Amino acid sequence: MERYNTRTASNFPGLVFDCAEEAQSGYKHIDTAYNYHTEKYVGNAVRESGIPREELFITTKLPWHHYARVAESFQESLDALGLGYIDLYLIHWPQPILYDPNDPLPKNPDGTPKTTNYPFTKIWADMERLLDTGKVRAIGVSNFSIKNLEILLESAKVVPAVNQVELHPYLAQPELVDYCKQKGIAITAYTPTGYQTVRDDPVIVELASKYRVSPAQVILAWHMSRGVIVTPKSANAERQRENINVSFLHFPINSFDVLFLASTAATCPGACRSSAYISS
Ligand SMILES: NC(=O)c1ccc[n+]([C@@H]2O[C@H](COP(=O)([O-])OP(=O)(O)OC[C@H]3O[C@@H](n4cnc5c(N)ncnc54)[C@H](OP(=O)(O)O)[C@@H]3O)[C@@H](O)[C@H]2O)c1
Repeated sequence: MERYNTRTASNFPGLVFDCAEEAQSGYKHIDTAYNYHTEKYVGNAVRESGIPREELFITTKLPWHHYARVAESFQESLDALGLGYIDLYLIHWPQPILYDPNDPLPKNPDGTPKTTNYPFTKIWADMERLLDTGKVRAIGVSNFSIKNLEILLESAKVVPAVNQVELHPYLAQPELVDYCKQKGIAITAYTPTGYQTVRDDPVIVELASKYRVSPAQVILAWHMSRGVIVTPKSANAERQRENINVSFLHFPINSFDVLFLASTAATCPGACRSSAYISS
């Protein structure tokens, strides 16, 4: 069985099987990206699952160094997936990284990424042109702050369908969630269950115990109560089932109030990876 490295460099045996199993257990939305090097495996998994393509929703992303080759990069992702079309294509990150065909993340001598000031409004115009090909159903962004969305919307012909950002109870981002709702931009939470520190939060653990569910389920239900789409990831079949079985849970709203208060009061424990874009 093939092995592959995840974005976080952990080595997995048989994504194909895991992913097909996820689809069989009811997952319909698969989130991948050019930069994760998993598109080919996602395509294989979808074909292996036997689930009709049109019943699945596939998201992939333009990498940060492909700012000036949107059409080419999109085609590369489309070919790697081999699924005919892409449901949602996102700009992975608003800050483009200098293009080097041999290095997706070239760095300065001080270790910081080599960025360029190529405007993301130009990237977005190229993303909009992709819609004319009929090979992508919707386009959106990822890791965009309110400030960057404001800049984008000034010249955008198409409002991004989605903004995918890091969101969990230690990074609740209520202003961004409200802003996106007002503009008709759906929010997708990445790292939705937070990190172990978030899943170990005493308020979350107490709620989980009270409702006889897991901390991750409490957190995922909290996202859903806010109207946020979630992309939980697990390599474990039991936790995959756990994470999809949250829609059947009903929490009294007071519990969410408690959780929300706890979350907004909590400080990101040095674990949130996306702080760079939140203030930019
Ligand atoms: N747009 C972006 O810039 C961006 C950035 C990061 C991630 N993402 C997307 O978001 C997806 C999820 O992000 P993520 O992996 O950072 O966050 P996550 O799904 O919240 O966390 C994954 C981690 O939590 C564990 N976990 C999952 N479900 C659990 C449960 N029920 N109980 C206990 N532990 C559980 C997993 O371990 P096990 O595997 O052992 O269960 C894994 O270590 C990624 O796969 C990627 O598609 C997007």
